[in-house]
Amino acid sequence: MAAKRVALVGAGTMGSHHARVISQSTQAELALLVDPRESVGRAVAERFGTQWAPELPDLADIDAVIVAAATEAHYPLAMQVISQQTPLLVEKPVADSLLRTEEILAAADALDLPFLCGLLERYNPAILTARTLIHAPFHITATRHSPYAARIKTGVAWDLLVHDVDLAIFLMGAEPQQVDARLGFFHPSSEPDAEDVAETLLEFTGGAIAQISASRLGQRKIRQVSIYEDDRLVELDLLRRDVTVYHHISENSADGEGRGYKQQTVIEIPELASSQEPLTTQFEHFMDVIDGKADAAAERASILPSHRVIDEVTSKRPSLVARDR
Ligand SMILES: NC(=O)c1ccc[n+]([C@@H]2O[C@H](COP(=O)([O-])OP(=O)(O)OC[C@H]3O[C@@H](n4cnc5c(N)ncnc54)[C@H](O)[C@@H]3O)[C@@H](O)[C@H]2O)c1
Repeated sequence: MAAKRVALVGAGTMGSHHARVISQSTQAELALLVDPRESVGRAVAERFGTQWAPELPDLADIDAVIVAAATEAHYPLAMQVISQQTPLLVEKPVADSLLRTEEILAAADALDLPFLCGLLERYNPAILTARTLIHAPFHITATRHSPYAARIKTGVAWDLLVHDVDLAIFLMGAEPQQVDARLGFFHPSSEPDAEDVAETLLEFTGGAIAQISASRLGQRKIRQVSIYEDDRLVELDLLRRDVTVYHHISENSADGEGRGYKQQTVIEIPELASSQEPLTTQFEHFMDVIDGKADAAAERASILPSHRVIDEVTSKRPSLVARDR
């Protein structure tokens, strides 16, 4: 099969990673790199042996597009690509509001277009491994904390929380019935309505719960997920991409006379289901959806649930007037 000609929009942090993955792929070639910032766009284009353009041209000779521009720019770019019936992967979140996300997905649905959202953690080897281990989780906790990045204009819910909400839905196998959240606004450089911290509680049918903490005011990156089932705890470090399974056996006092604490726990380190970089696995999945080897409709349908939850979380933002009081 001929290599697909892929255009990449956005040459920033994430765009540079996509450029590397596309240019390393045997299934595709990086046909074009688009970014309004000429010096940045040209530099990344040259590094990966392709051409730079300041804006997206006609897509007649392009087989697929990846949009890794700033989130605020996703909506017009996605609509432009969809109107030319070109398969599309948009970085997460699809757009910075549920309404715009729904419009984009409806337009893709109407054409049955291959469409992915860059919910990258789905392809993390730790998550792929956990999925082979778990049966019926009833409790999930997730922590995603990052140091502050002034370039990100959206609040932490659309930027970071969306990943773990998507994972919780993915691992529980259902959308939550109830969403509760508290938002914190602390950093002087953040937009006034962009939260820095989001503490979220999701409740699923049957009573399963997920508690998810997202913050962009951390002093180090934390990406941890704990999945509780009847007889085990599966702990994931998504940054180190490792999985540990715990099974409690017994507990006692350390000295047998009530002092101290002693426990017996079986610890299992399973073999990972994959060791491939998540962005490469995601890109291969994108190619499979385009080639009809994976279900395009199911892929599109999997995107909205996390975006619906984030919309509900951000609806808890107090009005600016109320916060100033
Ligand atoms: N999946 C993930 O794990 C992950 C991680 C980081 C970022 N992201 C997402 O990737 C996107 C980009 O984030 P980033 O951290 O690379 O940001 P960034 O600021 O480093 O880069 C954004 C780039 O987009 C360009 N841009 C802005 N408007 C444009 C337009 N109209 N057309 C083309 N390019 C335009 C900017 O010039 C800039 O080079 C965001 O949507 C973000 O949420 C996803």
